[in-house]
Amino acid sequence: MSILVTGGTGYIGSHTVLKLLERGKDVVVLDNFSNSGPDALRRLEDIAGRPITFYKADILDANALSKIFGTHNVEAVVHFAGLKAVGESVGKPLEYYRNNVAGTLTLLEACRAFGVKNVVFSSSATVYGSANPTPYREDMPTGGCTNPYGRTKHIIEQMLQDLHHSDNSYNVTILRYFNPIGAHPSGKLGELPGGTPNNLMPYITQVAAGKLPKLNIFGADYDTPDGTCLRDYIHVEDLAHGHVLALENLGGCNVYNLGTGRGTSVSEIVRSFEEATGVSIPHVITDRRPGDIAVSFADTRKAQRELGFTAECGIHQMCRDSWRWQSFLSK
Ligand code: NAD
Ligand code: WQD
Repeated sequence: MSILVTGGTGYIGSHTVLKLLERGKDVVVLDNFSNSGPDALRRLEDIAGRPITFYKADILDANALSKIFGTHNVEAVVHFAGLKAVGESVGKPLEYYRNNVAGTLTLLEACRAFGVKNVVFSSSATVYGSANPTPYREDMPTGGCTNPYGRTKHIIEQMLQDLHHSDNSYNVTILRYFNPIGAHPSGKLGELPGGTPNNLMPYITQVAAGKLPKLNIFGADYDTPDGTCLRDYIHVEDLAHGHVLALENLGGCNVYNLGTGRGTSVSEIVRSFEEATGVSIPHVITDRRPGDIAVSFADTRKAQRELGFTAECGIHQMCRDSWRWQSFLSK
């Protein structure tokens, strides 16, 4: 029996593939390389020390999916494939709805045709919107997302819940990630932002590498201890482990936050990065970034109670591993 990982050469997918292989699982990876590539696959195989069963395929391609499901005895799908750039989604909403929503629909139709009834899905803390108090709890109202990317996640969550309600032999686990950062300890796998990064950690590592002159801290006048925004940064290795636990505990329709339960400010991240790596990060305070909320962090109790999930890695390790990956890229 195999586990099909869509988007498995991407940032979070590749770390999860390694964890599944470590557990002795038979893994089949599918990716269209829209935001990864053959290099990532090669590095993944290098770390795994063995070839990986891989299909360059699109989740929108029903024929390709039929071939994969027809060839492998798939017991579960871990579904990472998707477009994820918040800003880009505002300018290209239809591309985001097609790829993420129609892509997931096509994938779920293939699952139904082949009797695959176990699905783990990559959702995001963004579905909590801006109206809920922190820490975010899984039973809080969702929606009110401020961009098309977030709405695709919210729609897919509902599609999956509807599927389970129509036939409760489908086991669906929705994982709401907080802010994934860090990289594989080997330094050979990590996040590959296209162009100038929008997210904080890849921006910091590119400043550290001298590719960008300075970090702009978007606002220091928030109602937080040091005035900069608080986020729940989680190491991608912990996140990947969360998927293994989710697969081991499939049953019914469940939603879990994957975070650390701690908020860290932008200024603290900068300071921790400097302490952990010895590299200084020139920075200036600029205006707030439109759409940012002051504070976001997870209530982690449900994942801890029901999955046995606890994030182990601290901020220093996240910074060190992110920097090792950037240093590998800069070689
Ligand atoms: P990523 O871009 O590194 O990985 C996604 C992979 O999916 C890429 O390799 C890409 O080539 C592939 N892909 C995209 N569309 C596809 C399609 N139609 N068919 C086949 N493959 C396709 O992103 P990531 O950071 O690893 O994110 C994985 C998932 O987690 C995404 O669904 C993302 O929305 C979600 N997520 C990410 C974050 C984050 O901050 N990184 C936070 C919350 C949720
Ligand atoms: C973190 C903090 C910025 C860049 C996004 C998505 C979310 C999820 C994770 C997918 C904020 C500040 C950033 C910079 C800065 N992705 N910042 N200078 O916005 O919390 O979440 O990624 O699901 O949906 O919205 O993450 O890394 O962009 O920002 O000061 O150059 O860093 O203002 O406070 P965010 P981020």
